[in-house]
Amino acid sequence: MTEHWINVADAEREGLEKLEQGPRDYFAGGAGDEVTLRESVSAWGRWRLRPRVLNDVREVSTRAEVLGGPVEAPVLVAPVAYQRMAHPDGERAMAAGAAAVGTAMCLSTLSTTRPAEVAAAAPNGRHWFQLYAFKDAGVTRALMEEAIAANFEAVVVTADAPPGGNRERDRRNRFTLPKELGTPSLSAAVGGGRALTIEETFALMNHALAWTDVGDLASECSVPVLVKGVLTAEDAELALAHGAAGIVVSNHGGRQLDRSLATADALPEIAEAVEGRGALLVDGGIRRGVDVATAIALGADAVFVGRPALWGLAAAGADGVERVLGLLGQELELALGLLGCTSVSQLTRAHLRRAPAASVYSV
Ligand SMILES: Cc1cc2nc3c(=O)[nH]c(=O)nc-3n(C[C@H](O)[C@H](O)[C@H](O)COP(=O)(O)O)c2cc1C
Repeated sequence: MTEHWINVADAEREGLEKLEQGPRDYFAGGAGDEVTLRESVSAWGRWRLRPRVLNDVREVSTRAEVLGGPVEAPVLVAPVAYQRMAHPDGERAMAAGAAAVGTAMCLSTLSTTRPAEVAAAAPNGRHWFQLYAFKDAGVTRALMEEAIAANFEAVVVTADAPPGGNRERDRRNRFTLPKELGTPSLSAAVGGGRALTIEETFALMNHALAWTDVGDLASECSVPVLVKGVLTAEDAELALAHGAAGIVVSNHGGRQLDRSLATADALPEIAEAVEGRGALLVDGGIRRGVDVATAIALGADAVFVGRPALWGLAAAGADGVERVLGLLGQELELALGLLGCTSVSQLTRAHLRRAPAASVYSV
């Protein structure tokens, strides 16, 4: 029963209520003083919309192309670790919810479900795989190959971790993963089969990953490779120079470097640098259809949502994911019509203006 949700905040309230304090703070929290966590949401509200009126908007479509394939709306599901801690159906429900609204889901390396099971849960869905690089290159390759063998369409290399951020809520809670929860693909790749703790997992990761490694991955990999966690035009240039097919502007949902830029503030310089030379996605703090419209008008091809989909999952499984993504799609459709646009491709910088400082509100 999710019909009574009229916005993402409704799903958030119910999702949070369902979770125990440890998992709730793990999912909701950020790094340090959580400045970036909060600002990632409020920064979208520093843009104001310039609607054009008296256009024929009887037929409005939110459909878009991302990495050469269609989505019903440019709102994709971000990679989020340990989803069976939010709901027993975990990543399978997330994939089913995403497929039900015709969008793509990116599966985390720290998935509690193997890629083939995710694909089987949503056979018509589009799936990407988020990759953390491990010190043992064989582990990295095994994870990537398992996902590609399950028909995953793209590999998204996360560049803003390790090391893991200073998550003080987790430290205060002495948070540990539930004993029964594992990351089966990672355990299989590492060998031994035992479930790994979060600390053990981060310790196994490659803290020396370099642009040349991205170049090697991109040239070896049979599917497009994107780099996630870029916040500057300089790094966007390097990603493209090393063969990335796209970039995800992200601060990891405020979980890594506190006081790093809000993505709404980083996106303009990156869009200018990329200039259509690769796919451009952005995530962090997207909670409204007008946030999606703002991101597209600033030059993104699509957005990822992390926590909104997770709240839907925690509250109501696949139905909750479908409802949250559906609400964002409906809000985007309405925003397009009211902006005088019949498609997302008509959104441009001319639809935006910086909000006067005095009108900035916090969400
Ligand atoms: C609980 C949680 C776990 C996450 N796990 C991963 C992960 O395993 N890999 C990754 O690249 N990003 C991970 N992220 C970051 C998300 O992919 C995304 O960048 C972020 O959630 C976007 O912000 P939003 O939650 O405000 O939408 C995680 C985020 C959250 C909230």
